[in-house]
Amino acid sequence: MSEEPRDLHTEIVPVTPEAPEPEAIERAAAVLRRGGLVAFPTETVYGLGADALNPQAVLRIFAVKGRPADNPLIVHVAGKEQLCEVARAIPEPAWALVERFWPGPLTLVLPRHERVPQETTGGLETVAVRMPDSAIALALIRALGRPIAAPSANLSGRPSPTAAEHVYEDLCGRIELILDGGPTRIGVESTVLDLTTSPPTILRPGGVSPEQLRPILGELRLRAEILEARRSPGTRYRHYRPRAEVVLIERWEEVKHRPLVEQLAASVHRLGYIGRERGLSFGNAEAHVVELPPDPQEYARRLFAIFRELDQRGVEVIIIEGVVETDLGLAVMDRLRRAASRVL
Ligand code: TXA
Ligand code: MG
Repeated sequence: MSEEPRDLHTEIVPVTPEAPEPEAIERAAAVLRRGGLVAFPTETVYGLGADALNPQAVLRIFAVKGRPADNPLIVHVAGKEQLCEVARAIPEPAWALVERFWPGPLTLVLPRHERVPQETTGGLETVAVRMPDSAIALALIRALGRPIAAPSANLSGRPSPTAAEHVYEDLCGRIELILDGGPTRIGVESTVLDLTTSPPTILRPGGVSPEQLRPILGELRLRAEILEARRSPGTRYRHYRPRAEVVLIERWEEVKHRPLVEQLAASVHRLGYIGRERGLSFGNAEAHVVELPPDPQEYARRLFAIFRELDQRGVEVIIIEGVVETDLGLAVMDRLRRAASRVL
């Protein structure tokens, strides 16, 4: 965890998602203009925003989150035409994607425009850009009159925030203001698509699925496939982790899960279970059972909040049943795998 002091007064300002109050937006924009930090809702998760063109402000994001300096930020814009202000050498497919998916949960990685400081891009010559589908986020970018750099508004390594309370829990005293627009609609982050490779590569699955992208792009690679091919150990950073240890059972039907659940239950006082199975035996452990949300959309929307809630209940281990990787299920499984310390 970072050593950043928690001595600021963090103001929470309620805003109406469909019709954001101009005074609230102006207050938040004023904080950003002074180089301060504002958390705000997007359709995916809450972002921790700073003026993307102000290197000092951007550096504070890294300090406050405890984020490694080489992990680049996404630059949020308020219009399709603004893409030209932050990226250059934009290839033809980018415009087709922007036409189809913006505003929305698709982030494009493109060559960096020199206006965007390297602090924002983690030292890279590329920049990640997206236009969020949230009236609050768009109003804030327009009020500032400049693009906003924003990672998810959680402490590094923790589950992403899908409500203002989650942001407050992690960043209270470290940031100036939180715009509270209620729970977010999608619940997992945007899809990060690298257009500087041929074919384009999905670096992070998210709100837009490969099935939706293929008709426009044709060939498409998933980063996981590349990593597997290189036998790379996978991710560089810890991610999305609740305090509880997460045990993910991907092939529930194939794994002898009953004895495993009993064995795990015997080793803890409080156990969480997210899945479909009924009538499991948890021995003497206090069991907190969350019924697996029925469709991947619903699962994506609730996943991070479930993690935080199980933490609050003092659960020591969470056992999770895997989901089918179609549609948003791909993004959900990606987050579950990274959250897990054991995958079976
Ligand atoms: O939905 C979202 O994308 C949310 C909301 C707030 O917009 N933002 C978000 O940001 O999830 P963050 O920082 O938590 O994740 C950004 C991801 C990281 O995996 C980062 O490495 C990658 O995007 N990224 C950013 N710039 C990149 C670049 N130039 N090249 C490759 N990957 C990049
Ligand atoms: Mg994040």
